Amino acid sequence: MRLTYTSDVWWKNAVVYCLDVETFKDGNDDGVGDFRGLTQQIDYLAGLGVTCLWLMPFFPTPNKDDGYDITDFYSVDPRLGTLGDFVEFMRTAHDRGLRVIADLVVNHTSDKHPWFKEARSSKDSPLRDWYVWSDTPEPDNPDQVVFPDKEDSIWEYDKGSGQYYLHSFYRHQPDLNVANPAVRDEIARVLGFWMELGLSGFRVDAVPFLIENVDPKLAEPHEFLADLRAFMTRRMGGSILLGEVNVAYKDLVAYFGDGLGDQITMCFDFIGMQKAWLSLARCDAGALAEALRERPKPPKDSQWAVFLRNHDELTLDKLTEDERQEIFQAFGPSEDMQIFGRGLRRRLPTMLGGDLRRIKMAYSLLFSLPGTPVIFYGEEIGLGENLKAEGRMAVRVPMQWSRDGGFSRVKPARAVPEGAFGPERVNVADQKRDTDSLLRWFQLLIERYRECPELAWGESTVLDTGEPAVFAHRCDADGATVVVAHNLSDTAREAELRLDGLGGYRLTDLLVDGTTEVPDGGVVRITMEPHGCRWLRASHPDVAPEDASVKAR
Ligand code: NOJ
Repeated sequence: MRLTYTSDVWWKNAVVYCLDVETFKDGNDDGVGDFRGLTQQIDYLAGLGVTCLWLMPFFPTPNKDDGYDITDFYSVDPRLGTLGDFVEFMRTAHDRGLRVIADLVVNHTSDKHPWFKEARSSKDSPLRDWYVWSDTPEPDNPDQVVFPDKEDSIWEYDKGSGQYYLHSFYRHQPDLNVANPAVRDEIARVLGFWMELGLSGFRVDAVPFLIENVDPKLAEPHEFLADLRAFMTRRMGGSILLGEVNVAYKDLVAYFGDGLGDQITMCFDFIGMQKAWLSLARCDAGALAEALRERPKPPKDSQWAVFLRNHDELTLDKLTEDERQEIFQAFGPSEDMQIFGRGLRRRLPTMLGGDLRRIKMAYSLLFSLPGTPVIFYGEEIGLGENLKAEGRMAVRVPMQWSRDGGFSRVKPARAVPEGAFGPERVNVADQKRDTDSLLRWFQLLIERYRECPELAWGESTVLDTGEPAVFAHRCDADGATVVVAHNLSDTAREAELRLDGLGGYRLTDLLVDGTTEVPDGGVVRITMEPHGCRWLRASHPDVAPEDASVKAR
């Protein structure tokens, strides 16, 4: 069926902006961000051009894992506001045309959640089976321990009731047991509750753990994901699940629902992200090109979510030890920049040494990659990190609105970046006034990305360029084509693009002024500035392409 419009599958070319209410803007002068503050900044977000906000967990929490340890799935943490504040925020976001999704953290609860308190009260508790218990757990496999700095096992002995409980993450996060139908029903109720309050979907935390680490093992673990998606679709046609599924491509397709595309709507491309960093470190397109060539095509009604950095460590877990070391050497050589032996606790601009030209190229590359881009708040201004903060908290710093910080009228509860990345040097207000700023570059990239639905929707093909430092690909949809090239190196390069079927076409540069004619043979040579970026729309004087952007309306 050709009658598919982007507004029905809005997420296919959305621009997703991940933020933590706690670090975005303080509206009540207590040094902690909140919904009132966030609501004041909605116009900024709408002006940036992002189309969907992803809220990190904002639910009541003892906050031992930055909110990923929840004590009530149906409420708002009092530090961040009230349900009333949430609804006002939703109303404002919708008014400005922004959709909102939120983290769905149901692999586990906090050990302070009333369900777990009840479950651990006795082996006979009616909620006992809401969690996973064992008298004799299997010996630990070190690979299963996600946070090796704090944990050496995924089982914790509960003295009171005399059994071990499973915790895939920290010991204060007991795993919920989705093998229990009552737990599955409750999870659906949580989804239903927030969708009724206006959410368009959820970023699902730790999906493989959610369906695998249960007792008894599910005969069809993926059935639960398909059930959840069907439940959501019944309630709200365009709602989505954006899944954290960091597994090899060959195993990942099952999470999309194999060929059916009826489970997780969008999966993060963790492999592509790690290979992109390898390419950036090597100034060589090879690794990224290989990943994109290997990456399975998402089934109908599914999509890849592409990103370079998120709120966690920059995980490099799917690379070889040598490859990881290459990236450590290039972007995080000192030990305090590294974490868990597998990642970096830095943000992109500091990793790229604050080199604005290179930073702009990296984000141009991100927005041009086939899929839906997901950015982490502050990336648009080049927000840095503060390594004095513990572990992954280093990158979860307050947003910088003005030279004096502008996050709060009092001292922010969280450490702010310092030196070259402090608020006096990196902030929204200054960059709004500077046409060459990173913020303006993001606005341009977002605008162009939205005008080029081929990038998200199209058939993408990685091109050989004859120049190792230049990564190029083309995306074709409905007779329209966009060709994109990025020079990963800091010296000018010449690339040769073989553009089958485009002989005699004209390539119009969408980022800078200029056109290039494609000779009849279809092979065109382009010159790339150091870290240059070209987004080229193909057009033929005699052929009126079906305008793919029309569909976006
Ligand atoms: C993945 C989240 O991204 C991370 O921040 C969290 O600590 C774990 N899941 C546990 O919820």
